[in-house]
Order: sequence, then C-alpha cells, then structure tokens
Amino acid sequence: MSADTAVQSTYQSSYAKLQSWVDEVAALTQPDEIYWCEGTPEEWVRITDRLVEAGTFIRLNDEKKPNSFYCASDPNDVARVEDRTYICSVDEKDAGPTNNWMAPDDMKQVMRGLYDGCMRGRTMYVIPFVMGHLESDHPMFGVEITDSAYVVASMTVMARIGRDVLDKIEQTEADYVPALHSFGAPLVDGATDVAWPCNDTKYIVQFPEERTIWSYGSSYGGNALLGKKCYALRIASVMGRDEGWMAEHMLILKLTNPEGVVKYIAAGFPSACGKTNLAMVEPTIPGWTVETIGDDIAWIRVGADGRLYAVNPEFGLFGVAPGTGWDTNANAMRTIEQGNSVFTNVALTDDGDVWWEGMTDEPPAHLTDWKGNDWTPDSDQLSSHANSRFCTPIKQCPTLADEYDDPNGVPLDAILFGGRRKTTIPLVTEARDWTHGTFMGATLSSETTAAATGAVGVVRRDPMAMLPFIGYDAGDYFGHWITMAKNNDESKFPKIFYVNWFRRDDDGGFLWPGFGENSRILKYVIDRVEGKVEAHETPIGLVPPTSSIDTDGLDVTEEQLAKALAVDTDEWAAELPQINEWFEKFGDTLPAVLWTELDGLKARLGL
Ligand code: GDP
Ligand code: PGA
Ligand code: MN
Repeated sequence: MSADTAVQSTYQSSYAKLQSWVDEVAALTQPDEIYWCEGTPEEWVRITDRLVEAGTFIRLNDEKKPNSFYCASDPNDVARVEDRTYICSVDEKDAGPTNNWMAPDDMKQVMRGLYDGCMRGRTMYVIPFVMGHLESDHPMFGVEITDSAYVVASMTVMARIGRDVLDKIEQTEADYVPALHSFGAPLVDGATDVAWPCNDTKYIVQFPEERTIWSYGSSYGGNALLGKKCYALRIASVMGRDEGWMAEHMLILKLTNPEGVVKYIAAGFPSACGKTNLAMVEPTIPGWTVETIGDDIAWIRVGADGRLYAVNPEFGLFGVAPGTGWDTNANAMRTIEQGNSVFTNVALTDDGDVWWEGMTDEPPAHLTDWKGNDWTPDSDQLSSHANSRFCTPIKQCPTLADEYDDPNGVPLDAILFGGRRKTTIPLVTEARDWTHGTFMGATLSSETTAAATGAVGVVRRDPMAMLPFIGYDAGDYFGHWITMAKNNDESKFPKIFYVNWFRRDDDGGFLWPGFGENSRILKYVIDRVEGKVEAHETPIGLVPPTSSIDTDGLDVTEEQLAKALAVDTDEWAAELPQINEWFEKFGDTLPAVLWTELDGLKARLGL
C-alpha cells in the first residue's frame, strides 16, 4: 500500500494474504479509518452506542428487552433481492438456469466502479468469523469487510466472530472466504447521514470458483450478513459438491419420546415457511420433547459410521417477527425476552418495547409503526413489515440442545421437505427411497413470501427450499443428492418426507392447525422410521391413514384430517405439466433418474 492511501487502522495482520486484501479494499473504497472487530462485550457497547448516536438504533427499555435495539430500515431495503443476486461462475453453464449470471471479470469491472470511493467518510470494519465451530477439524473461516455498523452488530449475534477467530486464521494461515460488503453511501463534503444508508443499485454476488462474495447497496440480513445465505449456502453448496458434503437450507431438531429415545430431524422449508417455528416447537403430545439445534442452515457430512451428520454453522437466530407469539412460538418469545437482540422493521411501543402482528391477540392502543408513523388498532396498515426480523443469540434459546456445541453434529434419522401450498400437497408423504426423496425435493413448490422482494403468494418450484441459494447448476445439485447415496450406504441415510402445514379447506381456512400440533407429524415420522405404524402406497408416495396419526386431544375432525392427507388425482393432473416444464429447463444436467421418477408418477396416476 502506498503512503498516500494509508489510513488509520486499529490493527495490522501478520498474515500477509489477509492484510494485503484489506489494504486492497481500503485503497479502492477509501474509508476514513479501518477497525478490526474483536467481538468483545466492550466492542458491542461501542458499536451499538454509535448506532444509537447515528439514529439507526433506538435503545429499548432495559426492563422490557435488556441490551436490545429497535431499527427501521429504508423502506426499499427490507428483503433479499433475488433479481440482483448473481452466481458469477467462469462458465455461464455452471450457474445453471435458475441463477442470474455475469462473467466474473465483467461483474468485477461493474462492481469496482461502484466500490470506488464508496466508503469515503466512513469506517471500514473487518470482521473475522467462523461458520460452525472454531474447534472443528477444518474450521470454515470467513472475513467480512463492511462499512455498516448494523452489519457488525448483527454479525456479532449471528456468527462466531472476533479475536480468537482471527488468531486461529493467522496462526494456521488458513483459507478464508473474503466477503466484501458496502451499503454504497459515501459521506462526502459534509453531507448529513441518514439512519439507514443504502443504494438503489444493489448487487449480491458470489464467485464460486474463487469462493468470494461481493455485496453492494443493501444492509438487509440475507444480502449483507455474508456468513449466512451467501457463504453458508451459496458458496458452501459449491464446496460441498466438490468435497462430498451438503449445505442445505434446513433446521435441525432433536426429538425425544416418552421412553427417552432420541432422534434427529432436519427440515428444508423455503424462507418464511416455518423453519424457526418447527425448530423450537412445543409438542402438544404428552411426554415428547423437542430441542433446537438450528433454525435455518444445516451442513451435512457423512460420518465414519456412514450416517449423515448435521451441524448448524450459525450462532444466532434471524427470525421472521410477525406471527411469532406466546401462542405460536413461546420459545422464540423466551429467547428474545432475554434481550441482547436487534429488531428490524417491527413496531415500537410507547414504553420502549417492540410489537408486531401476531405477538399478542390485543395490539397496544398506540404504536410507532415500522415507517415511523403513528399507528392504532384501527389503522389500515400493518404495524410491522411482513419480513420484519428479530436477531438474537441462539444460546439464549431455552430449548437449545447440548449437541449444538458438538462440532461433529448429530446423526439424522429423517429429512423433511415442505412448502406453502393451499392445494395438492398432503400433510405428510413419505418417499419410497432416497432417489424418490430427491425427486420430492427437486419438485418442491411453494407460494412466494415477503422474505424476498417481488410478488407474494405465487406458486413456484423451490427445489429443496434452495432455489435462491444453490451456488451452481441446480441440475448438477440434484445430481449431487443422487451421488451422495450412490457413493455411500443408502440404507444408513435418513428417510425423506414431504410435509405441507398450509393446505386449505374450501373456505380458505387451514386444514391443519400447525405449530405445536406439528409434533404429531414428527411423531408419525419417527414411528415410520421405527416401522411402528402403517402407511398406504399412493401414486405420489406413502401417505398415512388417519389412524396412523396420534389425534389424542387434537381439535381436528377425522374428515378434515382426511382432507389434509388426501391425494387428489385432479390436482396432481394439474401439477404434472408444471413439473415437466420445470425439468425441461435443465437439459442434460438433470439426472435421468428424476425423469424416470416423473414417468413413474404419471403412470401410477394413470395420466
Ligand atoms: P422460516 O423463515 O422458515 O424460519 O419461517 P418461520 O418459522 O419464521 O415462519 C414464517 C411464518 O409462517 C410465520 O408467520 C409463522 O407464524 C408461520 N408459520 C410457521 N409454522 C406454521 C404452521 O405450522 N402453520 C401455519 N399456518 N403457519 C405457520
Ligand atoms: P429466512 O432467511 O427467511 O429463511 O429466515 C433470512 C433471509 O432471507 O436473510
Ligand atoms: Mn427462520
């Protein structure tokens, strides 16, 4: 670095590769100062004080939510931007038909232009982090550079960050994923700052071969906390393909039956389709307990015994706020009650607490809504954005399982796929084998939600709930699922099921009450794993008769449950052309066995 670009820095790394990358970014972005994050409690105080001073954070009432902050984003920066998200592989073909692509050099040229001077008047933060355990055999390091103190505070909650991570990176001269973020709002010529700086131009870019991430213009979680979706899913899915493991958009839970027998289940549902809720569910069936291991991401490897072991690489929860309440997800409420949290785009109460739709039956008489306006119960607007979020340390979750701290993870007994479908998809269907389960995952469909910008409620294919997160050709990704079983002993792999909590009756109401009652389906799944209950062969897979579901104390008629479980040939006849069209997108990367599965399904349906 030449003398004229030298800026004040709190630290110089002894690891030349890392220091020269930091220097290079500083020379390009031209910050006023460089701050290396240490992850200490004192640093949290300094960063959050700074955010309060800048008007980004409002400190909540210490008696309601200790050490916690309210934050409202720019109304145009509230969700992941899938149309601005790119997989910049060297070959366009490797990004596949489901990702946006641009040639890496072209993208870098565009983004260098945007990054040029983008941190003027700002502090550049360097955040050393590790996804997964620092003690694991191969710690998965990253370093995020950002100009956003909001990102620093959020990353402190969401990932293991700081001095001990940096020490280990330096001591072992480890590989790390360089992850560059800027909100793209330089402060120049005495301009006044805004509470939520961002830019109308947004790019969320992964370079899979280089294992590098460049993000620009947004500070929203999935766009800016680069350890999460960008690294732990998009980049990690590519690492997993190359190294024989899997990075999946799945919760992980531990289920214990009344006899004390423990099982582990992972479940992949699209964003805002119930992962966080199921991960913390309070079973309504007596004697059963659920403990939480992860609520969003699972890294899955084959263990020495041939079973699939899942680890949650995250350190916090970034949950959808609306719909989270004492009736639906009491454990999430208990987690956030302890404080140390950031709430974004929810409503602020007059006594310095937060509120959102679904937290309590009765809304407070007066609120400040997420846009800063007065709000009363007869307002025609929602008080909180539909994708408003709580960001909370997972260690505060009262149901966190001890296994969370095991770097080797937990052996999976079952994998669930699920989505939001008003019709067609039964409450629970079991795959005949791993290949059929891969077919179920590959054809998974769901109505779009507010977790990404764009229309809400539109049915789309969301394979394995990974549509926005597969870092390579989705056809090759299905092939990787098939290969995992081919290269290992499939008989040791978990059974695969497809669930749908969101099927509706003719009046538009949910056929299945969901939430705590989903424990009945978890029990059924484990009963099937143990061969204890019956399931019927149907054209789409194994579906339980109502008698196989524990309905003791359940407020659902047998007729209604039968409707929730029904396989409707007319609905499937409408579904098949969509699956066909979906598969045709992939050309020769789609594994032939998936076409065979589709042909079999058609034949069994008599279509
Ligand atoms: P995630 O983004 O996949 O973690 O989804 P969440 O668990 O945060 O849930 C997203 C939304 O779906 C929230 O509004 C929940 O209240 C709602 N939800 C979660 N589980 C169920 C369920 O079993 N039934 C119904 N009807 N809604 C649910
Ligand atoms: P989620 O993802 O909706 O799956 O929790 C969060 C995000 O979009 O960043
Ligand atoms: Mn979630």
